[in-house]
This record gives sequence, structure tokens and C-alpha cells, in this order.
Amino acid sequence: MEIYTPRTYISQSKLEEHSGVSQGRYTLGLGQEAMAVTGDAEDVNSMALTVTHALLEKYKIDPNTVGRLEVGTETLVDKSKSTKTVLMDLFPNNTDIEGATVINACYGGTAALLNAFNWVESDAWDGRYAIVVAVDIATYARGPARPTCGAGAVAVLVGRNSPLALVDPRERATHASNVYDFFKPDHSVEYPVVDGALSQVCYYRALEDCYTKFCNKVDALNGVDQSSQGGSKDGDHFDADSADYFVFHAPYNKLVQKSYGRMHFVDARRKHARKLEGKNLFAEEKKAEEDDESDSPIAKEYLTKPIEDTYSDKALEGTLKNVSKSSYNTRLTDANAASKIVGNTYTASVFFGLASLVDKVGSRGELTSGKTAVVFSYGSGALATMYRLHIRDPTQSANETIGQGRIFTIDEMVKNLNIDQRLASREQVHPQELDLALETRARMHRGGAPYSPVYPTNGRMFPGTYYLNGIDSKWRRSYSRV
Ligand code: ACO
Repeated sequence: MEIYTPRTYISQSKLEEHSGVSQGRYTLGLGQEAMAVTGDAEDVNSMALTVTHALLEKYKIDPNTVGRLEVGTETLVDKSKSTKTVLMDLFPNNTDIEGATVINACYGGTAALLNAFNWVESDAWDGRYAIVVAVDIATYARGPARPTCGAGAVAVLVGRNSPLALVDPRERATHASNVYDFFKPDHSVEYPVVDGALSQVCYYRALEDCYTKFCNKVDALNGVDQSSQGGSKDGDHFDADSADYFVFHAPYNKLVQKSYGRMHFVDARRKHARKLEGKNLFAEEKKAEEDDESDSPIAKEYLTKPIEDTYSDKALEGTLKNVSKSSYNTRLTDANAASKIVGNTYTASVFFGLASLVDKVGSRGELTSGKTAVVFSYGSGALATMYRLHIRDPTQSANETIGQGRIFTIDEMVKNLNIDQRLASREQVHPQELDLALETRARMHRGGAPYSPVYPTNGRMFPGTYYLNGIDSKWRRSYSRV
């Protein structure tokens, strides 16, 4: 994996002050510390070029060894001409590359990743790598959603012999439904139409649906009986403490914390349902389960209440926060570290989480073979998938004859990601720059052609960053590299 986020950022506490909202509203209320900001000199094409170029360079990937390249984004440029085609400039002698740009709010990157997984697993696979690029500039009109802007891109190399592996591709579950929580119907602006409160509930619904199906599938794959009537014990069932790590799509940190609490709620309800069904349990086990449940801090009435009636229950929310707190600290904080200071990156958010996990846990030498990370990706509209990745040491298991035969390790990823240091070297800008940056983006969006970017870039970009030179009179965009 390789990540990119602009060099300039805004502090959320300074933004609170600047916006005249109460202190703590963005930092404590949303759990965010900072937000990446960029103006009209960058677009998703330039950011995708930056991150893909860096991936090829850092990992010394010969562009001719790539057979699939797919992009997930919802910050559309040129609509029908996909960002994938712009990236073809990085593959000058290789036109035989499948894939296009996939769109569904924050889910496009995951759809692209699943396509890449399927290709690498299929008879169509020709031994070359796939690259998945997730890239977005998250922007909102003035109002409560503004502090949840952000910008970033992640490029993921997919092949066999990976240190992060989808060992069993059946370990995944999807939620798809038709909701209008966040969408972009007004083509004259870059901003979405968003129903913030509804989007939170849709996120919970999708998570709970994916998680329930995921648990059932993993249990079935492990031969664990769903109803307990076959004698499986509760400890055998997959639950929110079963994976070593979780990685969530992170529009803002507080939502991830609350959502992880909801997973513990689902666990308690599933356990209760099993108890009710478990007529064939031995008396001893039944007694143990009853004792266990009476100790549970989640009041019994919640275990059978229609789940729809629980989303706005603040008392329950507080209980779930306490129940999940210590597990959250161990299993999710490392993955969330980057998004807390980069902001929402839409399609890239969940991949930032994965990169942050590798960077933090890997650098402590703790991302060892046999550990697992469960990933949850949500895109409004809505599409969501939960899947499980296994950490393994490819030097022990790699089959050199498969594919390119290169071996990648967590250590190499940690060295190349170097996220802490890279994010620490960013430049903090005044919060009023957010308005300026968004105004320049809005001007570009409606500006017609030709167009020349006006947002200041001099000395403000990391070396190796692509930027937009301009849009010519025939609407064609061109890019240069710092
Ligand atoms: N100090 C501490 N906490 C505070 C303060 C303060 N001064 N002021 C408010 N808060 C708390 C509130 O009590 C609330 O806490 P709670 O979540 O525990 O109830 C929290 O801050 C949020 O405040 P709200 O008034 O509920 O919401 P707000 O008006 O700030 O809007 C929202 C938040 C809806 C997330 C908005 O930012 C938004 O619409 N964002 C975009 C949509 C989004 O990201 N959806 C998520 C999934 S879809 C996607 O990824 C795009």
C-alpha cells in the first residue's frame, strides 16, 4: 500500500474557534483532530497519479507487470472519462490493463478491491499484479458537515503471496439497499446532498447487517452450530472480540467508536437469541449462560426490542461505549489514527485505516503471522462489505512459481508507509484557508474552459506530487509533477 494526502491541513480546534461553534464540538463531538485541505490545483486525477507513481517507485514495480488497474472515487472529473484512463500515462508500454473507475459513494474502492481479488483468484488471471486506487476530495457546503471534509488517496497492490491475505474469500458479507442518505444530484456543485442523521443510521444498519451475516458465515466455515442445538458453546462463536483488529470506514472517529459499540450490542442480542433457541443445552451450560447474561451491563429489555427503536437511545449508547471501550482501544485506535488527522477521504478512508494499522502495529513488531483484521467498508446509497484479512509471513508460505514471485512483507510496508513521520511533516494552515480552498474548487467546478488553478501551491506540496496545470479550451486537463 501507498498513501497520499495533501501537505496542508487545518486543526479542528482552530476550526471550532474560527467557525464560532462551541469548544469541543469537532474535537470531542466528532472525535477529529485535523483535516487535510486542498484547492483547485489538485483533483482526483492528480492525487491518483501521485499515489500510483509513488507505489510503483517505492516498491520497484515494473509497469509491464501490472494487468489490472481499477479506481474507486466519487469526486468525478470528466464524468465519462475514467480516472483509470488518466493513470495509463504511468504505464507507457503496457496497454493490456483491465479495469475502470467504480462509483458508489465511499464504497467504490472496496468494489474495485473485490474485483481485483476475484481476478487474481480466477482462471482469467495471467500472473500479473492488480492495482486498486481509492481517491477522493471530501467537500461539504457550509454547515455541520463541513468539519468532516478531508482529502486523500491510497494505492493497493494486489497479487498472491501477500502479507495481508484474503485467505478464505468466503469470509465476507455485504449489505446493499436503496436509501437517500448522501448523494450528488446537483452537478453544478461538487458538494453532496446529505442527511447527516440518516447517514449515521444507515451506517449502523449496514454494519449490523454485514456483521450478523459475517458472523454466521465465519461460524459456518468453522463448523460452529448457529443455534447452539448442536452443542457449540458461546465461546466458539465469532464476536466483536474475536478479531485482533477491526478497520472501519471512518467519516469521523466518533461514528467508528459508536459503531463498534453497536457490534457488541449485536453480540449480546445474538447470544440471547441463541439462549432462547438452545433448548437442547445441558442444564450446566444453560445455567452458565443465564448467569453470564445477568452480569451483562446491557439491560435485558434491549435484547429483544426492535433494533430500529434503539438507534437514538442515548442511555444504550452510553452503555455500549463503556462495554466496548477497552476492546476499542486495543482493536481500533491504531487503524483510526490516520483518519483522525486527515479527515474523511471517502473511498480511501477504509484503506487509510488499513495502512494506519500496518504502520502503527507493524512498527511495534506486533502485526505477526496468524493475526486477523476485519474490515468494514460503507458507501452511502447504500453498499457495504465486511471481510477478513489474515496476516501471514509470505517468506514461510510463498510459492515462488506463482505470479511475479516477489515477496512483500509487513516490515517493507511499514518502512515505505512511514505515516507518522509523513503526516507530522505537513504544514498547518489557518482555518480560513478551508473556505478559500473550497471557493477555488467551486470556481473550477463551474468555471468552464479554459481554466487555470489559482490556489497557492508554491512550496506547499510534497516532492513527487502531481498538480493540475490547467484545463485547456477543449476541456482537456494536463498535469505536472513537483
Ligand atoms: N463539546 C463536546 N461535544 C459536543 C459539543 C461540544 N461543544 N457540541 C456538540 N457535541 C456533540 C453532540 O453532543 C453530539 O454527540 P453525540 O454524537 O454523542 O450525540 C456530537 O457532538 C455531534 O453533534 P450533532 O449535533 O449530533 O451533529 P452535528 O450537527 O455536529 O453533525 C454530522 C454531525 C451529522 C456527522 C455532520 O457532520 C454530517 O452531516 N457529516 C457528513 C455525513 C457523514 O459523515 N455521515 C457518516 C456516514 S456517510 C459518509 O461517510 C459520508
